[in-house]
Amino acid sequence: MSLREFRKNLWKGRVRINIREKLELIVATRNRGKIREIREALKGLGLRLYALSDFDEIPEIEEDGKSFTENALKKARFYSKIFGKLTLADDSGLEVERLKGMPGIYSARYAGERASNRENNQKLLKEMEGIPLSKRRARFKCVMALVSPDGKEAITEGTCQGRIGMRQTGKRGFGYDPLFILPEYGKTMAQLPLKEKNRISHRGKALRKLRKTLRTFMGMVV
Ligand code: IMP
Repeated sequence: MSLREFRKNLWKGRVRINIREKLELIVATRNRGKIREIREALKGLGLRLYALSDFDEIPEIEEDGKSFTENALKKARFYSKIFGKLTLADDSGLEVERLKGMPGIYSARYAGERASNRENNQKLLKEMEGIPLSKRRARFKCVMALVSPDGKEAITEGTCQGRIGMRQTGKRGFGYDPLFILPEYGKTMAQLPLKEKNRISHRGKALRKLRKTLRTFMGMVV
């Protein structure tokens, strides 16, 4: 068919072009480490991802829930209302057995309200002083909440077991990664490339469980 014929047919409604628009997904975080991992894990779904840091003057929300799930849902509901778009929120943290699950939901602000990753890691090392490696069991936990503007909601979870190292090792990742030893690898999370971290991490697991739901929410055949 020549271009001319094609145009004529298109004009007369004899041909239809089926272009699937990329669906927009708001990722309700400003944490660059989380954004990188979420982007990688949701590749291939045909989503256009936006993070809060892509917009100016977006209101903040207080993370005052008593669990990862409460906080994740609160963030996802709040921003899906603001944007009127499908929204994904991640609430995650580190639970240390010897510290009765702390820092848990306080992981981001363990050493104080605006604490840096370095300050949080230093505080953790101090709290764990003198404790041998065999008694430094810990896990990362991640809860993902997906909320659509018409009120559909889904929650998934992932955990990853490890130990708290005696010192920080590795430069990749973010947060407590340089202190989080994966015994089966003999490495910290901060020594793993992004794809490898996603394969075994709490976030990677929660996101893999969410892919199917995301497709359903997007109205695609699973
Ligand atoms: P949130 O933004 O309240 O979910 O805080 C998450 C905090 O938990 C981060 O700031 C990190 O301190 C910690 N955290 C969560 N996931 C990871 C991870 O994959 N690696 C290292 N630290 C993490």
